[in-house]
Amino acid sequence: MDVANSNPSDSLHVAIIMDGNGRWAKSRFLPRLAGHRQGVKTLKRIVKASPDLGITHLTVYAFSTENWGRPFEEVQGLMNLIREFIKSELAEMHQEGVCFRAIGDKSAFSEDIQELLLHAEETTQNNARFHFQVALNYGGRQDILQATRVLAEKAAKGEITPDQIDQGMFASQLTTQGLPDPDILIRTSGEQRLSNYLLWELSYAEFFFIDEHWPAFTPKTLARILEEYKSRDRRFGEIQEETVEAQA
Ligand code: IPE
Ligand code: IPE
Ligand code: MG
Repeated sequence: MDVANSNPSDSLHVAIIMDGNGRWAKSRFLPRLAGHRQGVKTLKRIVKASPDLGITHLTVYAFSTENWGRPFEEVQGLMNLIREFIKSELAEMHQEGVCFRAIGDKSAFSEDIQELLLHAEETTQNNARFHFQVALNYGGRQDILQATRVLAEKAAKGEITPDQIDQGMFASQLTTQGLPDPDILIRTSGEQRLSNYLLWELSYAEFFFIDEHWPAFTPKTLARILEEYKSRDRRFGEIQEETVEAQA
């Protein structure tokens, strides 16, 4: 069977759509940016708590390819938060053995942000205690398209033949290359959609939709989700072992 990025059993990858910052702020009569600021505080808490909860990989959706369509001031505010986050967290992340990676198309960001992200990635690239990915200017469809283009070019040049393209080769061209597929997807704020997040990678993830807005999300809620995850029966299209035994 051609399975891409199948999970080594000792990894636990949690993907999060951090949604609801704006509504959290609105309900407190605060500007949307105050919600984003509070959201960053939540993120720092979750990153710190994750390794002790048994999570090996955490991938959070921070800015989608569609989020450029928001008002200029909000986009600028989010860019500033990205800058501040890297500047204030890099040293501690490195000290804590966190391997940081920005996924998505970084080329759309200003030079200084690109440099900050690259510097953070290079500084932490050999850390292995915890893998932390932030999706920035990320879109699942765009990522699938760019991977397709790379492979089509290779085929046009005669470097590969179309029948050589399997799941592994395809996944190796995605921005998530090298990461195990997420085991768990969490979306906060009650919305139940993917909003273009990790379309390829989430094929067999377990989904958890949480009513709390992201700024109000806590390590305790995360721990509760992990507990519930243990009781989920992941079949990957097959049938349970007991069923096979009963039929024998
Ligand atoms: C998520 O919160 C953060 C980003 C998309 C950057 P939102 O800003 O989407 O908050 P709501 O969904 O409007 O409440
Ligand atoms: C998804 O949330 C993107 C991020 C959390 C970064 P959105 O708020 O942008 O998604 P929609 O518009 O509700 O689908
Ligand atoms: Mg939203």
